[in-house]
Amino acid sequence: MKPSLVVAALAATSAATSAASSTVSQWTKGQRHSVNYNKAPPNLSTLANSSLFETWRPRAHVLPPSGQIGDPCMHYTDPSTGLFHVGWLHGGASGATTDDLVTYRDLNPDGRPFIVAGGVNDPIAVFDGSVIPAGIDGKPTLLYTSVSYLPIQWTIPYTRGSETQSLAVSYDSGRNFTKLRQGPVIPSAPFAVNVTGFRDPFVFQNAKLDSLLESSPQTWYTVISGGVHGDGPSQFLYRQHDPDFQYWEYLGEWWHEAANSTWGNGDWAGQWGFNFEVANIFSLDKNGYNAEGEVFTTIGAEWSFEPIVPEVSDSRQMLWAAGNVTIQDGALKFTPTMAGFLDWGASAYAAAGKELPADTQASMKSKSPDRFITYVWLTGDFYGTHNFPTLQQNWTGALLLPRELSVGTISNVVDNELSRETGSWRISSSNLGVLELVTLKQEIVRETMSQLTSGVSIIEPGKTLGSSGPVAFQHRPKSKFYILTASLSFPASARGSDLKAGFEVLSSEFETTRIYYQFSNESIIIDRTNSSAASSTTAGIDARNESGKLRLFDVIENGEEKIETLELTIVVDNSIVEVHANSRFVISTWARSWYKASKDIRFIHDGEGEVKFGNIMIHEGLFDAWPERSR
Ligand SMILES: *[C@@H]1O[C@H](CO)[C@@H](O)[C@H](O)[C@H]1NC(C)=O
Ligand SMILES: *[C@@H]1O[C@H](CO)[C@@H](O)[C@H](O)[C@H]1NC(C)=O
Ligand SMILES: *[C@@H]1O[C@H](CO)[C@@H](O)[C@H](O)[C@H]1NC(C)=O
Ligand SMILES: *[C@@H]1O[C@H](CO)[C@@H](O)[C@H](O)[C@H]1NC(C)=O
Ligand SMILES: *[C@@H]1O[C@H](CO)[C@@H](O)[C@H](O)[C@H]1NC(C)=O
Ligand SMILES: *[C@@H]1O[C@H](CO)[C@@H](O)[C@H](O)[C@H]1NC(C)=O
Ligand SMILES: *[C@@H]1O[C@H](CO)[C@@H](O)[C@H](O)[C@H]1NC(C)=O
Ligand SMILES: *[C@@H]1O[C@H](CO)[C@@H](O)[C@H](O)[C@H]1NC(C)=O
Ligand SMILES: *[C@@H]1O[C@H](CO)[C@@H](O)[C@H](O)[C@H]1NC(C)=O
Ligand SMILES: *[C@@H]1O[C@H](CO)[C@@H](O)[C@H](O)[C@H]1NC(C)=O
Repeated sequence: MKPSLVVAALAATSAATSAASSTVSQWTKGQRHSVNYNKAPPNLSTLANSSLFETWRPRAHVLPPSGQIGDPCMHYTDPSTGLFHVGWLHGGASGATTDDLVTYRDLNPDGRPFIVAGGVNDPIAVFDGSVIPAGIDGKPTLLYTSVSYLPIQWTIPYTRGSETQSLAVSYDSGRNFTKLRQGPVIPSAPFAVNVTGFRDPFVFQNAKLDSLLESSPQTWYTVISGGVHGDGPSQFLYRQHDPDFQYWEYLGEWWHEAANSTWGNGDWAGQWGFNFEVANIFSLDKNGYNAEGEVFTTIGAEWSFEPIVPEVSDSRQMLWAAGNVTIQDGALKFTPTMAGFLDWGASAYAAAGKELPADTQASMKSKSPDRFITYVWLTGDFYGTHNFPTLQQNWTGALLLPRELSVGTISNVVDNELSRETGSWRISSSNLGVLELVTLKQEIVRETMSQLTSGVSIIEPGKTLGSSGPVAFQHRPKSKFYILTASLSFPASARGSDLKAGFEVLSSEFETTRIYYQFSNESIIIDRTNSSAASSTTAGIDARNESGKLRLFDVIENGEEKIETLELTIVVDNSIVEVHANSRFVISTWARSWYKASKDIRFIHDGEGEVKFGNIMIHEGLFDAWPERSR
């Protein structure tokens, strides 16, 4: 997490927490009459405070009652209640509990924090941390980054002692984490290492590490994210030393990449960059979480093509990698075998996950196995760099819908240069010119997905389009809250052609958001040029396109070779648009349509070749993730 943002979040929240939530509502309702969604928008930055509170507010997503949300972190299952706790930075850190992964309940009134900065170890800020569910005294125990000096940035020399790692314990079911009256348990970066960052400790257990390192079973480890000046990004690995988590043994940089290097040619997993943030470590098999499964990591990579000077805006990418874990020269090493984007959206970052055991309340109800679920942050003002009308909206940012991760397979793939490339997949087996590929599978958490699709379903008749131009859907959603699923089949001639196909959403005669696959560079594009009439009157309404790379492989189906079908799931939650494809690709962004009329859906086809649109289904309404906040 970029330190300067946390400072902004601190300021925002201390103000937000003083207001009763009912005040926000009355204010909002009082002001709404002055805003007319049937007319062109004024300069929104000139409107009254909170007058846009409802305009773009999502329903089914996690976000605080008001104010700015930062990185998700500090999730855990409370062993004494079986409730899953979801946390996020928000003037310290706040959180909510869920017993079904659909609805959430704030831990504290008005979303007030469970830990705030200002202690001896953390006079300046509380950054990301993670929780040992049954730690000190058997209680939830938080290991977090305690901050003493700012600024901290990978582009500038590091102030020694800026970031340390400290403990806090909750004795009241997570409503308050009490800091231990002592110094940090990891009081400095490794000896003589000139770090670019040293934060976001992620605690985990891992059977493979236990056996390779000859640790006792169920030992806790932590990785701390950062990098080394002039050398590149790293994960620093530590091992629990004592039952009270007072000492952590340094095991080295178990993963390091050269500065500014890439996975393969960079097409599939962006840049490793100069500094890692928010690293998570976990193991998966095809059903979900498995402490003995394949080792995965999710990481935020920080980089820039600009000259490296302080205050220069930098770039961030939300990546994943799977890897081999081995002992080399006496030290444990992680070596990637495949890597990709967890989310291609430029505003999607700082994912934080946690294992969700089968005996949690949610998993028992849905009869789910052990899972690893992750929440990705969608920054609302582009990491604090956009001059968004924040006072008018009174909230900034959200977490994307939770996803469950597992090892996915792509079967019957033709063995050719497309499948042999160094990409976000690896070959698991090969048989007579046909391959089975393995990749990271990510899907919207099953409980969330079944709730999203539980409402009345509208079936839009399938269509085969061969000529250009948008074609209106027969069915027009009544609202800007729905989920759309569809299968798109392409002819073999599409490969390498100029063919594009997909959907327009949030459309009217004034506005439209175009979501389509284009074969020219195997990308899903979200064209936001015309998403919002407000982008021409108001600063900070981002109209830049989003794009991400998805390879549709050549596959053998019923004895015939064809291009893999594109399976799209598009969630429109007012201004949040999540595009999921083939259980292995996600791109999420904001599309802040202004006009009330901007609700239409249309088919898009452009270029040569017939596209078959099938299995088209719309479920309207989504759900209210915060029933207790409803006013
Ligand atoms: C919109 O209003 C704000 C606040 O008055 C002002 O700073 C900004 O320049 C205006 N933007 C445009 C595009 O007129
Ligand atoms: C709007 O909110 C800002 C920040 O809280 C405050 O400074 C300003 O006075 C408010 N404006 C009105 C008209 O209340
Ligand atoms: C947590 O409890 C301690 C001790 O009672 C108190 O000093 C602190 O203010 C509380 N923190 C929060 C965030 O409520
Ligand atoms: C650490 O790296 C920074 C940035 O390259 C450099 O300015 C500083 O001198 C280095 N410090 C040490 C102790 O090598
Ligand atoms: C990083 O690599 C890119 C090319 O991939 C290059 O344009 C850029 O100058 C490099 N930056 C630094 C600081 O080396
Ligand atoms: C990972 O391990 C597998 C199985 O031992 C081996 O075939 C592969 O080459 C290794 N990959 C890397 C990148 O080390
Ligand atoms: C949100 O609105 C409340 C009053 O409705 C106000 O107290 C608070 O400062 C606002 N917060 C932000 C972040 O604008
Ligand atoms: C966004 O995509 C559209 C095509 O869908 C293109 O016309 C436009 O130039 C793109 N905008 C930018 C800024 O690249
Ligand atoms: C945006 O809307 C304008 C006006 O309706 C239209 O001329 C233009 O082609 C649209 N651009 C895109 C990229 O859809
Ligand atoms: C694919 O091409 C479009 C231009 O048509 C570009 O905007 C986009 O960034 C490219 N996508 C990727 C993932 O490189």
